Amino acid sequence: MPSNSNKVHAKATNTIHYTLYYGTFIHTPALSTIEINFNTLVGVNEEGTIDFVHPNYQPSEHNNKSPIQFFIDNHHQQPNNNYRQRHHFEFVDYSHDLTKFFFPGFIDTHIHASQFPNNGIGLGVPLMDWLKTYTFPLEESFSTRKDKLSFATKIYSKVIQRTLENGTTCASYFTTIDPETSNLFAELLLIKGQRGFVGKVCMDHNEPYDTYQESMDDCIKSMDKIIKHVNEINPDDEKLVVPIITPRFAPVCSRELLKYLGDLSIRENLPIQTHISENKTEVELVRDLFPDCDSYASVYDKHDLLNKGTILAHAVHLTSKERKLIKEKNCSISHCPTSNTFISSGEAPVHTYLYNDGINVSLGTDVSGGFDSSILQVVKHAILVSHHLSMHKDDEKNKLSIIDGLYMATMGGAKAVGLKDLVGDFKVGKKFDAQLIDLTTSDSNVDVFSWQYPENGDLGKMNDLLGKWVFNGDDRNCVKVWCNGRLVINKERNHHRDDRWVITNGGTASGGKEQEWCEL
Ligand code: GUN
Ligand code: FE
Repeated sequence: MPSNSNKVHAKATNTIHYTLYYGTFIHTPALSTIEINFNTLVGVNEEGTIDFVHPNYQPSEHNNKSPIQFFIDNHHQQPNNNYRQRHHFEFVDYSHDLTKFFFPGFIDTHIHASQFPNNGIGLGVPLMDWLKTYTFPLEESFSTRKDKLSFATKIYSKVIQRTLENGTTCASYFTTIDPETSNLFAELLLIKGQRGFVGKVCMDHNEPYDTYQESMDDCIKSMDKIIKHVNEINPDDEKLVVPIITPRFAPVCSRELLKYLGDLSIRENLPIQTHISENKTEVELVRDLFPDCDSYASVYDKHDLLNKGTILAHAVHLTSKERKLIKEKNCSISHCPTSNTFISSGEAPVHTYLYNDGINVSLGTDVSGGFDSSILQVVKHAILVSHHLSMHKDDEKNKLSIIDGLYMATMGGAKAVGLKDLVGDFKVGKKFDAQLIDLTTSDSNVDVFSWQYPENGDLGKMNDLLGKWVFNGDDRNCVKVWCNGRLVINKERNHHRDDRWVITNGGTASGGKEQEWCEL
């Protein structure tokens, strides 16, 4: 590592077998909307795409046909269903226990992979001092250390593994200014099988810490290298890894650099991510540095950096004019409540953004301004921060619900990263990016008492379980993770194999638990 060959062997290139999933499926396909579907059959094809969804399949309503026989009779032999090539499929059944459910993979729209070792360090130090004391020295070492490739491999492998184990199937990452280790990071995403956006940090001046910056020329060369490399290593027909244009934030970027990056985004049709209005001192600094622009947001707009592919992280102290501009330009916000609390940046009025301004809001861990790499924890923090805001303002309207939190963690994230037609919920045609939640694993921090177990169709109790998951759950409840239809995390105790079924020539099913995989 890193490989010099154009292709890397990776989980992201593993063959996908047609799989039939059966169990409770929960998702938030739109703002304020949650759907809880029991006994749902979901077929995922060899491209990792959801082929059909059959909610509430009850054998008793179908002549006692098992889900498998139902699938063979109704879906398997459809003319558009590649039958000739499909001799076998897998059956994954979690329908028997309603404390287990499928949920879309989380999407982390703002995370600094390079800062992962600093998680938990720097409590309460305001942004500009925090950057100088903790962040810039660590990021710089990705360029200056002699052993930078093995150093980066350790950190980057760990952060990808940790986020996957927490159910994050897609993330928009910042790396550092260094191109070699950023390319290595892209390879590691494919090796681990996570969908990801690779943001080499761009910054051409840095007064507080002047050894960590690049020239405009170096930035251009590095961006060219990364765009080329990522294109080469992506598996055929799957864009699992994408470069993202990443001006760090206005205070460390010249106007020329901002303009180059805006133009590059248009030329290469690439998304953009940056920070905005995180901290009041930072907002004042931007006002001093760009006196000709009437707001922080307009600095980015002036350099063609605001469009539907732009993710603006933090957005704590926006003016109403800026909110209007952000809405007009169709940008998304990445709300980072863990970080905004840890380095005391402020409380973003997210309810207003979502419901009054109509801006798309997603969630970011902002590792390591945020101390936790789990989006589930960020959902919890988003809700708690909104309650504090509501208490300060004495206005109930600021309170976010569990549904709001889960929506921002999935569909809001999918919209932010430009993948709303590909991931974020369980609609037909989308990729199967999913996590299996089990609230009753033996080491779970969630306690479910017997009277709290939902019966089939009991939405009230199911909603209570979602509260338990968000407020008491953690990575121990995320037992399996699929990305693009591939199982990339499996924590089940004995790693038991799911049932495998073989289609005989007559179109009937044979097989069962632990049956060997067979070719016909
Ligand atoms: N603003 C500019 N750089 C950073 C960073 O690395 N983290 C956070 N939280 N804010 C920033
Ligand atoms: Fe950040």
